[in-house]
Amino acid sequence: MSEIRPIEWANGTLRLLDQTRLPSEEVIVEARGYLEAVDAIKTMRVRGAPAIGVTAGYAVAMAAGEFESSDRTTFLQQLAEAGVKIKAARPTAVNLMWAVDRMLQVAENEPDTAKITERLLAEAVVVEQEDEAINRRMGSHGKDLIPEGASVLTHCNAGALATAAFGTAVGVIRAGWEDGKRFKVFNTETRPFLQGARLTAWEFQKLGIPSTLVVDSAAGMLMRQGEIGCVITGADRIAANGDTANKIGTYTLAVLAKENGIPFYVAAPTSTVDLSLATGDEIEIEQRSQDEVTEFRGVQVAPEGVQALNPGFDVTPAKYVSAIITEAGVARPPYLDSLGSAVRSA
Ligand code: MRU
Repeated sequence: MSEIRPIEWANGTLRLLDQTRLPSEEVIVEARGYLEAVDAIKTMRVRGAPAIGVTAGYAVAMAAGEFESSDRTTFLQQLAEAGVKIKAARPTAVNLMWAVDRMLQVAENEPDTAKITERLLAEAVVVEQEDEAINRRMGSHGKDLIPEGASVLTHCNAGALATAAFGTAVGVIRAGWEDGKRFKVFNTETRPFLQGARLTAWEFQKLGIPSTLVVDSAAGMLMRQGEIGCVITGADRIAANGDTANKIGTYTLAVLAKENGIPFYVAAPTSTVDLSLATGDEIEIEQRSQDEVTEFRGVQVAPEGVQALNPGFDVTPAKYVSAIITEAGVARPPYLDSLGSAVRSA
């Protein structure tokens, strides 16, 4: 199987596998300038925390190409302003802010102004390549947490599509499967944007890993029936105490898992850990359009004029998280200590 790579830099253009068209069509959209890359993040043509970070890296490099100037001060100032616009594309996944800050630091550190654009492009490629390597490391650290013969439940899409390649939570599942372990996989459809039904189910098919799609609200019943051996999800931002923001519905799964004595694991790179936030209460949660709830693919399904609330993410308190799998190893509670060491050693 050829690797799923949703982001590709080729001939000065960012090529993105349009995730709004999957699974029915595999269409590449091109971002030719940094604002087009910002738009692709906003419209979720590219989505998932690490993938947004990789795209942001290329967006900063493209912005440098657009603003290039021999006047260093003006150039760096325009680049910083572009950085603010890129960071504003979506609020919850900290990988976006992390990538922009990393890129701007590289620009500041390059003493030769004429070399900044070239240096930034090289750095964006490194961010992309590192992401795949990190995911593979996470896979090898996390795969032994999956009990042989059991069932794993995952939520949203934390697969290759949400990263440069390989995935985080799906990467751990894939690593276990490729190691020869056999288990069942359930994945939730993930209302309302259906990342699970549209993207994760598509990925498991491509990987040749049998998976069963369930509606989000079936998870509790499956857990009570003893059908689920562990839950593994990704994350968009993890506070210093281990509180974890991830796709809406994750908190529900974590509470249900604890109630049913099932381990609940989070797989995320250290770039998703935000040590500047003491707890998850400080994480900004994206509020999305009501239309995603009241309509289905443009067809109204709720009464005209009804009020809907559509938070894109929720926060799972650390007490529900059995372990956090990062590229530096498996962090266990208390997370204040273990996450800090993971970030420092990564
Ligand atoms: O709104 P999305 O699709 O960008 O949300 C994605 C998720 O919540 C993922 O679980 C998370 O980003 C981890 S991806 C490896």
